[in-house]
Amino acid sequence: MKDIHSYWAYLVLAILIFTVVNAIIGLTQKKEFTDKDLRVGLFTLIVSHIQLLIGLGWYFMSPWYKALKSGAGDVMGDKTARLLAVEHPIMMILAIILITIGWSKHKKKTEDSAKFKTFVIFYGLALVLILSRIPWNNWF
Ligand code: HEM
Ligand code: HEM
Repeated sequence: MKDIHSYWAYLVLAILIFTVVNAIIGLTQKKEFTDKDLRVGLFTLIVSHIQLLIGLGWYFMSPWYKALKSGAGDVMGDKTARLLAVEHPIMMILAIILITIGWSKHKKKTEDSAKFKTFVIFYGLALVLILSRIPWNNWF
């Protein structure tokens, strides 16, 4: 489960970065919001929801959850443990919520530029949150 989560993360980051860059280009160059742009956004939503499911699955079997249950004070006092047991999961869930809100909101917009803008803001913010709380030292 941990390995799947670790590999799936490459896909999440790659597709999310692509979507944000694509939306920035679409917005600044006043492009038409096509079927391709919609599918890119939807694919990102699905890939990140699957990561949420894998992440939650691993979390509740991981030593981090057990450590948190047996002594929250110890976990909070240890930078590495706190990142894995608390900060990373909470931040990633927040980021995925942002992506989901962005997806819902873009559907209600009628103008192409407004759709791109919604992706830039919500998917972009999600990307920043994710980059800020990935356990980089454990990865690769
Ligand atoms: C813990 C697991 C999951 C949670 C809590 C979750 C939550 C949500 C929520 C709240 C929405 C609503 C978006 C809206 O308001 O339109 C949504 C939409 C969606 N989810 Fe998930 N999801 C999960 C797992 C998955 C998985 C595993 C997949 C794919 C295999 C998936 C695919 C989708 C798709 C495609 C939509 C958007 C439908 C649309 O608006 O066209 N989700 N999800
Ligand atoms: C956008 C979503 C997410 C991304 C991109 C992501 C990415 C990552 C990456 C790159 C790692 C390091 C993997 C390694 O050590 O090789 C990791 C670890 C971890 N993730 Fe996530 N994650 C996401 C969501 C979640 C969620 C929603 C949870 C739980 C609720 C979660 C729980 C964990 C845990 C517990 C670890 C520690 C693994 C360990 O060393 O035992 N992740 N994640």
